[in-house]
Amino acid sequence: MNIAIITGASSGIGKEFALQLDAGLYTIDEFWLIARRKDRLEELACDLDHMAKTIPLDLTQEADMEHLRALLRKERPAVRMLINCSGYGIMGQFSEIDSREQIGMIDLNCRALTEITHACLPYMKKNSRIIQLASSAAFLPQPGFAVYAASKSYVLSFSRALSEELRSRKIYVTAVCPGPVQTEFFDRAEKYAATLAIKKYTMVTPQSVVRAALTASARKCPLSTYSPLIKAFRLLAKVIPHTLILKAMRLVK
Ligand SMILES: NC(=O)c1ccc[n+]([C@@H]2O[C@H](COP(=O)([O-])OP(=O)(O)OC[C@H]3O[C@@H](n4cnc5c(N)ncnc54)[C@H](OP(=O)(O)O)[C@@H]3O)[C@@H](O)[C@H]2O)c1
Repeated sequence: MNIAIITGASSGIGKEFALQLDAGLYTIDEFWLIARRKDRLEELACDLDHMAKTIPLDLTQEADMEHLRALLRKERPAVRMLINCSGYGIMGQFSEIDSREQIGMIDLNCRALTEITHACLPYMKKNSRIIQLASSAAFLPQPGFAVYAASKSYVLSFSRALSEELRSRKIYVTAVCPGPVQTEFFDRAEKYAATLAIKKYTMVTPQSVVRAALTASARKCPLSTYSPLIKAFRLLAKVIPHTLILKAMRLVK
C-alpha cells in the first residue's frame, strides 16, 4: 500500500498538504495523519476523498515515537511521501523564555523530524519524496527568535545533506523555507513577544506555500522558497556578512 505520512496535519501547512495531495493526481492509497489533536485529525480525515488513518501522537514523547515505528513494522507500507510539518516557534529574548519551551522546540523541530525520517527510510523506494518544513529563519541567526531560527538551520542543513545522500536511491528531499505564513503558528509564537510589523505585512497563505513546495518536490528541487521577497532575503543572507545584517537589524528595532 502506498501511503503519505504527514506530521502536523491538524492545522496550517500540514493540513493544507493533505488537502492538496488529496485533490491532486498522486499515487497515494492512504494518508497517515499525525499530530496531537485527535478531533482535528478526524475532522480532516472526513474531508478527504482518500482513505486516511488518524494517528494522534505527541512526537516529543519517546513512547509515541515507538508507537509509530511499531505501526510501520506491522503494516510495512510503501512510504511514497513523508512530509514533516510538526513544529513550533517561540519569539522573545532567550533568557526570558521558559527553558522547557526552548528545549521543546529542539525536540520537536529537530529530534522528532530526524527520528521520523530515519524510521520511514527503510519503507521508501525509488521516486519517493521527503518534504521537510524548515523556514526562511534558517538563513540567518535571529535575535529574538534564536532557538527557533537555529532549529530551522538544522532542518535546512540536514535536508540538503540528506538530499545528496539519497540521490543514488532516487529518493528526493525538499526543504521548504517560507517566510511568515497565516496559520495558528503565531498563536503560540507570540506568547512572550509580538511579531515584527514587517513580518505581518509579508504574510502569505499556506495554500501558496504548499503549492510551491509540491511543485518543487515534483521537480526534485532540494529547496522551495515561496515569494520573491524570501528569495531576495535568501540571496542577501548568502552574500552579505551576517555581522553586517545583524547590525542593521539592531538599528531598525
Ligand atoms: N507559519 C509560519 O509563519 C511558518 C513559517 C516558516 C516555517 N513554518 C514551519 O511550518 C511548520 C508548520 O507550521 P504551521 O505554520 O502550519 O503552524 P501550525 O498551524 O501551528 O501547525 C503546527 C503543527 O504542529 C503540530 N504539533 C505541535 N506540537 C506537536 C507535537 N508535540 N507532536 C506532534 N505534532 C505537534 C500541531 O498539531 P497539534 O497541536 O495537534 O499537535 C500542528 O498540526 C512548522 O514546522 C513551522 O515551524 C511556519
